[in-house]
Amino acid sequence: MPVLTTARLSLREMTRDDMPALRAILQDPETMVAYEGALADSEVGAWLTKNLTRYATDGFGLWAVELRSSGEVIGQCGITWQEIAGERVLEVGYLFNRAHWHLGYATEAAAACLDYAFETLLAHRVYAQVRDTNTASARVAERLGMTARTRFVKHYRGVEMPHIAFAIDRPGPEAG
Ligand SMILES: CC(C)(COP(=O)(O)OP(=O)(O)OC[C@H]1O[C@@H](n2cnc3c(N)ncnc32)[C@H](O)[C@@H]1OP(=O)(O)O)[C@@H](O)C(=O)NCCC(=O)NCCS
Repeated sequence: MPVLTTARLSLREMTRDDMPALRAILQDPETMVAYEGALADSEVGAWLTKNLTRYATDGFGLWAVELRSSGEVIGQCGITWQEIAGERVLEVGYLFNRAHWHLGYATEAAAACLDYAFETLLAHRVYAQVRDTNTASARVAERLGMTARTRFVKHYRGVEMPHIAFAIDRPGPEAG
């Protein structure tokens, strides 16, 4: 059962059967540059488990993104709780298989996730935390209408990573 659908994509909860598609993304060194390199098998398993736990406790998480035309899993996109500069916030996250970059899929999937956050979760603001070296991710955030709000440092895999917090606020009522 999809959680969200767009013109070309379908987003649904991941299952253990998605491990091969997850490995293809999370173990590709180029895809994972901003995460300080490819994940080990055990880290991919932990990544999946974390999202299964999120579905159960939060009702949402990073979802599998399928091409509606073929059913192929080409990426992950969704909403998660994150801590940014000491504050618990909702974030839109996106990671796609490199074979499918530059086709507008990340923007298309993430835009649907933002609608979900505002309309279903009634969020007031949604963030995207972007490592300051991650141009592609920053471009997607900008395409989503997000603006840079603050800078902060994230500690991940033993590395200090300067980040930019992009955000978009809940659309207000129509003027006039
Ligand atoms: C970020 C990511 C999800 C973008 O996916 P995508 O489907 O290619 O994104 P879109 O096609 O919707 O938009 C991409 C736009 O971002 C920019 N962009 C994409 N890749 C880029 C790159 N390597 N360098 C510079 N700009 C880039 C371009 O403006 C591009 O538009 P274009 O294809 O018309 O030139 C993908 O590159 C990815 O999975 N990266 C690795 C994981 C990651 O870092 N995720 C973000 C963590 S915060």
